Amino acid sequence: MADGGRKKLTARGFRAMKGEGRSILALSVYDAPTAGFAEASGVDLLLVGDSLGMAVLGYESTIPVTVEESLHHCGAVRRGAPNTFVVGDMPFMTYQISPADAMRNAARYLQEVGCDAVKVEGGADMAETISRMVGAGIPVLGHVGLLPQKVLTSGGYRRAGTTDEDAARVLDDAKAVEAAGAFAVVLEGIPSDLAARITAALDIPTIGIGAGPDCDGQIQVVSDILGLLSFTPKHAKRYIDLDALIKDAFSRYFDDVRSKRFP
Ligand code: KIV
Repeated sequence: MADGGRKKLTARGFRAMKGEGRSILALSVYDAPTAGFAEASGVDLLLVGDSLGMAVLGYESTIPVTVEESLHHCGAVRRGAPNTFVVGDMPFMTYQISPADAMRNAARYLQEVGCDAVKVEGGADMAETISRMVGAGIPVLGHVGLLPQKVLTSGGYRRAGTTDEDAARVLDDAKAVEAAGAFAVVLEGIPSDLAARITAALDIPTIGIGAGPDCDGQIQVVSDILGLLSFTPKHAKRYIDLDALIKDAFSRYFDDVRSKRFP
């Protein structure tokens, strides 16, 4: 076991963390070595986010990500972090068509690549699907607020819950996801005071991204905090500029080869 023998958390364990006021530490990662670094550093939850599309696969959004691509990366993360709770983020149109279709696809994350849970975007509209999945034994992480898979209909990556009416809708969505049986819910791109209200209203933990400090945990995309992409979203903080370090290492290697200093 990595991290000094720390036991892998369970879906129920996250609720206990909320009760004890312990922050949930979560990261979106896509490969085995990075998952191993996160496990060794004490992460609680690894999401193989569909941000995979932009962070690794070179797509412009999450929409083109397929279930096969997602499963491939989930397997890598599972192998790299065997003692960490791993959540597979179900891609666009793998759970929206019908609850039966969602359950068939979700089962692949558990059976084929060893994920501990799946994540789906949506609130009241996804309640029946979440309830059927949880009823069948599939732990589900919800995701409300800004929904990247709806970017084509919502007109871009707009923050959610910024009017009284929309804030009430996001709160209702979070409650619906809880009532459907999700073990926790991601709050993305909503005002801090709304995230605080939702966090207080729910028994399940909230995991925020761009939702302020009052959530029960935080999640970030690994490429954003490591500075791997040219664009860093407003809600992220770069803890290192890996892009510059990598370019520098590559140029020094090329210089060495050109000048025959290496090998
Ligand atoms: O795809 C992703 O990485 C996510 C997180 C940002 C929550 O959905």
